[in-house]
Amino acid sequence: MRTIIVTGAAGFIGSNLSKELLAQDYKVIGVDNFDNTYEKAFKEEHVASLLTCKSFTLEKLDIRDRAAMIALFEKEKPEHVVHLAAKADTRAAVEDPYPYIDTNINGSLSVFDAARKTGVSHIVNISSSSVYGNTPTPWSEERITDEPLSPYGATKRSVELFAYAYHHNFQIPITSLRYFNVYGENNRPSMVPYKWARAMLKGEEIEISGAGTRKRDYTYVGDTVRATILALQKPNGYQTFNIGNNNPVTLRELLSIFEDVIGVKANVRERKSHNASVEETYADISKAEKILGWKPEISLHDGINRLVTWVRANRMN
Ligand SMILES: NC(=O)c1ccc[n+]([C@@H]2O[C@H](COP(=O)([O-])OP(=O)(O)OC[C@H]3O[C@@H](n4cnc5c(N)ncnc54)[C@H](O)[C@@H]3O)[C@@H](O)[C@H]2O)c1
Repeated sequence: MRTIIVTGAAGFIGSNLSKELLAQDYKVIGVDNFDNTYEKAFKEEHVASLLTCKSFTLEKLDIRDRAAMIALFEKEKPEHVVHLAAKADTRAAVEDPYPYIDTNINGSLSVFDAARKTGVSHIVNISSSSVYGNTPTPWSEERITDEPLSPYGATKRSVELFAYAYHHNFQIPITSLRYFNVYGENNRPSMVPYKWARAMLKGEEIEISGAGTRKRDYTYVGDTVRATILALQKPNGYQTFNIGNNNPVTLRELLSIFEDVIGVKANVRERKSHNASVEETYADISKAEKILGWKPEISLHDGINRLVTWVRANRMN
């Protein structure tokens, strides 16, 4: 059985990834400190379902604790690590970047250090489309990444640069995946698709930023997880891939999908767009298609239907 460490396993994407890895017969060691960015109870719920599988172990650790991370890697001798643990709220990072620097940069270095000291054969580092800032779309991986709009994006780009240096100096294969606007089951509660699903199901008002003309490349979590596992299985020096839907929609278009799926007309209130919010996210995924053999399979309509079904069953209190 292949052993893999997944950092951030109690979170939105980490719990979905862990579930799929367990289904594919990996032994999964989930690392998470149940950071207080959002309700711990949600993370406990995600982990409770993973713990029903005997190949899953939870380690309540802070990735910034280098000694603990090295001890864990020495004990488990994982073949791979997928590093998702991070603070990921763009707006909060604008107000107070220091915890973002601490967790995202220092924490990532501690993961890379533990991995290289214990002979991990491939690190998959989860990055973000936020590294591109407001550069013209669609974004290929070669697009400049010197102008992220948020300190969160700046931390994600910094980690990519450290990852490259670790790869260069220690010859560890590292793959950075730039995720784009992920949504689906176990969704992080601060994200637009989750907030809209819950509010519309409860008959409450929803907020739309600006005139709803900004575009986002919403990507279903199951597609994101599939890309991550394909990438994991293809170590190749240092690589960067965009993992997005390649089909950006305006917030107004997204809203009409929600109205269609839920069958109600939304009660909308406009609010000013945040300064750190980009005009458009749009992934050019030709590299992932060619090298990983990956492309998204779940349409936005189907994915929103799955999200709404999950919110209706799990998040209506
Ligand atoms: N959700 C998206 O649309 C999206 C888009 C681009 C990139 N990403 C990246 O994907 C990854 C996962 O994001 P998510 O949406 O699942 O967020 P999430 O907040 O649900 O998951 C992150 C997890 O990391 C854990 N964590 C935070 N600090 C930690 C620390 N110091 N030690 C151990 N664990 C810690 C949190 O408790 C949480 O469970 C992040 O790296 C994020 O930057 C997400």
